[in-house]
Amino acid sequence: AIDISKLRGETGLITIDEGFVNTGSTTSSITYLDGENGILRYRGYPIETLAKNCDFVETSYLLIYGELPNAEQLAAFRSSIRKHTMIHEDMRSFYNGFPRDAHPMAILSSVVGALSTFYQDSLDPHDAKEVEISIHRLLAKLPTIAAYSYKKSVGQPFPYPNNALTYCENFLEMMFGTPAEDYHPDPDFVKALNLLLIVHADHEQNCSTSTVRIVGSSNANLFASISAGICALWGPLHGGANEACVNMLQQIADDGGDVEKYVRMAKDKTDGFRLMGFGHRVYKNRDPRAIIIKEACDTLLAKMDIKDPLFDVAQRLEEVALQDPYFVERKLYPNVDFYSGVIYRAIGIPVQMFTVLFAMGRLPGWIAHWVEMHNSPGARIGRPRQIYTGPTQREFVPIENR
Ligand code: ACO
Repeated sequence: AIDISKLRGETGLITIDEGFVNTGSTTSSITYLDGENGILRYRGYPIETLAKNCDFVETSYLLIYGELPNAEQLAAFRSSIRKHTMIHEDMRSFYNGFPRDAHPMAILSSVVGALSTFYQDSLDPHDAKEVEISIHRLLAKLPTIAAYSYKKSVGQPFPYPNNALTYCENFLEMMFGTPAEDYHPDPDFVKALNLLLIVHADHEQNCSTSTVRIVGSSNANLFASISAGICALWGPLHGGANEACVNMLQQIADDGGDVEKYVRMAKDKTDGFRLMGFGHRVYKNRDPRAIIIKEACDTLLAKMDIKDPLFDVAQRLEEVALQDPYFVERKLYPNVDFYSGVIYRAIGIPVQMFTVLFAMGRLPGWIAHWVEMHNSPGARIGRPRQIYTGPTQREFVPIENR
């Protein structure tokens, strides 16, 4: 074990590592990631095992508390989350102020940030009871907040959560149910959604998780820290890649399905075009999450007996790219986002909601890291240094002489 407190010596030497390619910001016992061999484990359990045997709530418990729950612990956890699914009635009126075409990620980050105005009794990051209740509130309320961001965009009334349902059933019912219709989510959709949330649940020190940790390191409350993580996730080089990827697959399909042309474009650096859903900072081998999702995608489409042209385009694009020396040399493989959009489409989730679903999945990982960071004996505010490259001291020139 590394004793962090011994590594805290001040130093006059500053290292530059743009994008933190080789810089470890912390030790962590949450997620093990071996990018060379395509291995991902949460708390020591392979992602494939968890995807097969757990649902999302059980996986969340594992990530946050470090152990798989026994039956009693899991039942208590589920029941507590169910109790907190509603949002304060006044928060519903927030949505009236957003333009109807607002991106749901913008709504999500704002409303999650606003939880700290409505739930002021659970803001102290050093009070274990308050932290516990804010964890349960977040896990419970995020699907409600997310579903309302969709309802706003389609102009439908906001339903209340139905606590007789499971986590994923409840979300799908809030998304697609209306007072005029007796909607019950297809069990295959529920299963697929659980799987997608599990494979997104944590990925060590990625951009959004590092954001949550650094915001939390200033002792900002959990709601504020998670809201910052949602903003970081939104970008197309991170969580927003799932939306960007489906838009790209659609563009290729509309363009006659000429995947070779898009592979050529991705190799040409002049226009900045990249194959969305391809490449990863850490994986230099197949992303194990992409393998799980592709398989689930295949199964779901076959079971529903639908042929999605975007799935065909994605498979052909993967085939062509993986034979191309450009992608081979750079070890660029499909990542988690390459096939996830095809499943979301099959479930009926609109493209703008894809990254919101990613945020729902990543939430327990963010929480686990925030808690780990606060419990670490070497916890300090995150404060990177820089190497200054601006002018040396200059003479001030009065405005009339400039
Ligand atoms: N298409 C074409 N070329 C690519 C791609 C791509 N998708 N990804 C990387 N490259 C090339 C780069 O141009 C670079 O080439 P060079 O060595 O000739 O300059 C080389 O591969 C290395 O790329 P970097 O950008 O240096 O790699 P980095 O680790 O910084 O970026 C990233 C990783 C952001 C994921 C990148 O691969 C990318 O932009 N992918 C597309 C967006 C995407 O799918 N993001 C989701 C990531 S997974 C997640 O966040 C959930």
